[in-house]
Amino acid sequence: MTARDTVEVGPRALRRAPAPARAAAGPAASGSAWNTLVATAAEPYRKVGHFAFGFARGKLRLDPVFRAILEQDLLEGCESVLDLGCGQALLAAWLQSAERCHHSGLWPKGWPAPRARAVRGIELMGREVARGRRALGAALNVLQGDIRSTEFGCADAVIVLDVMHYMSRQSQVETLRRIRAALSAGGLLLMRVGDADSGMRFHVTRWMDRLIMLVRGHGWFSTHCRPVPEWRALLGECGFDSSEPRWMSRGTPFANVLLVARAR
Ligand SMILES: C[S@@+](CC[C@H](N)C(=O)[O-])C[C@H]1O[C@@H](n2cnc3c(N)ncnc32)[C@H](O)[C@@H]1O
Repeated sequence: MTARDTVEVGPRALRRAPAPARAAAGPAASGSAWNTLVATAAEPYRKVGHFAFGFARGKLRLDPVFRAILEQDLLEGCESVLDLGCGQALLAAWLQSAERCHHSGLWPKGWPAPRARAVRGIELMGREVARGRRALGAALNVLQGDIRSTEFGCADAVIVLDVMHYMSRQSQVETLRRIRAALSAGGLLLMRVGDADSGMRFHVTRWMDRLIMLVRGHGWFSTHCRPVPEWRALLGECGFDSSEPRWMSRGTPFANVLLVARAR
């Protein structure tokens, strides 16, 4: 398979796509169960400060990937999850909130029941780790470290959301090989990337990524992006089976695609 003979994943392609792919980018959830889920996940960040709280609330509500993880049961069968470049640990807060809300009986209609999962995170920036710890407390399992060199251990699933492009192309390859080594055969990788072939949307994504890092006080990051077919070819070279791209930008101006891959 060459990098180019794979499917198109942008919004136009999804308008032509069969039902399952469209369902993957379903309409924004509404109603009190959804609002409670977002509010419960964001609440621990209130004590951390306006920025951390507002960012958590906005991101969890508007970024379609968090909804998709629960609604589409993307972590089905995975008990241990490793979140690489986890930022202020929003995924851990989200999964905790899901368990709580489901337990209390306020759960979006038709969504699969969430299950308890052990979540570990690795994050480069000390202040992100500190925000996560202040919000979620001692139970939060996040290590401050560089995913280019920090030991991964083992996990049933590895999640890398909007992180790979901050590393050089060579580091991307090495990190993907190490992620593969952390998984057993059949283990899951959820990796979201900006599709460098998506024209203006891609430029908006890239500038927003840089801006967010700047606003968070991390300086000006250069980014190293690839078109989705190239990411998929790379996943194949690094020991993953043919990955499935899911458009994960609905309701946003971005060009984000979630690659769902299994370790060979
Ligand atoms: C756009 S944020 C995404 C945060 C989180 N994945 C989420 O979706 O909420 C990218 C994160 O990756 C982290 N990051 C970038 N390069 C990293 C590296 N080499 N090792 C660990 N974390 C890294 C950044 O510090 C930042 O927190």
